[in-house]
Amino acid sequence: MYADRKSVFIDIQPENVRNLRKWFDAYVASFNTGDSDFQKNITLKDDHSRCVCREIRELGSQIGLFQNELLLCEVIGLFHDVGRFDQYARFQTFADMLSVNHAELGVEILKENKVLCCFPEELKDLIFRIISYHNLADLPLEETTTCLFYTRLLRDADKLDIWRVVTEYYSNSTTHSNRAIELSLPDTNNISREVYEDIMNRQIVDVRHIKNINDFKLLQVGWVYDINFLPTLEKIRDRRYLEKINAVLTDSVEVKEIFSAVESYLYEKLKDNMVQLYA
Ligand SMILES: [Fe+2]
Repeated sequence: MYADRKSVFIDIQPENVRNLRKWFDAYVASFNTGDSDFQKNITLKDDHSRCVCREIRELGSQIGLFQNELLLCEVIGLFHDVGRFDQYARFQTFADMLSVNHAELGVEILKENKVLCCFPEELKDLIFRIISYHNLADLPLEETTTCLFYTRLLRDADKLDIWRVVTEYYSNSTTHSNRAIELSLPDTNNISREVYEDIMNRQIVDVRHIKNINDFKLLQVGWVYDINFLPTLEKIRDRRYLEKINAVLTDSVEVKEIFSAVESYLYEKLKDNMVQLYA
């Protein structure tokens, strides 16, 4: 199983990862301005990066990856959003459409600072490609199976932690709102027809259809259609992420239909017991 992931020799030692973590700590610390509102969003992405690193490692061990492969997982988890800090410092937003593509910016930062100089060219290049693809709507299917394998694992881990961040946020947002998390969207009562249709057609929500905070919450609901590995689906079920988002949406017929559609998809896939959903 997963034999297709082994076309690149992954020569990574635990010491490499320890050193990369030190670089990451110092890099994040360099954004500390003493301004507490600004710092809150730097800390948000610092915590998210570390959590994605943990999530991807756990997913990797659940699907039986070897030690060196798990170390690669840690590296891509830790650095996948390294562009977020500079993005926020320069534009005060996490909305790529209003600023820069944070994945590409992250790759530029890693290259400029020669952060991955301890690795051979082929491995460095693989890591850059995985990071640059992690936020794309559609993956470049002409890519190598190794690259697509790790990109899919990273995207699963990233979503798992974003669900943690947003569900914690939604349950407290009436008292502590953060425009950066909500991407500065208006808080209207409706949901957009196109968003409803995307989800009912079992498609991930097209970001161009998002007009308000409810749509944004539904975008995260529709991510269930873009999950690649069985342990990720099990975590979505066990952590009750869908139920938590449902609880912060108005109780309309459309919302009920959406959750019924997405939950049946989730339970269908879990019942199929498919380990590698995209195969
Ligand atoms: Fe992320």
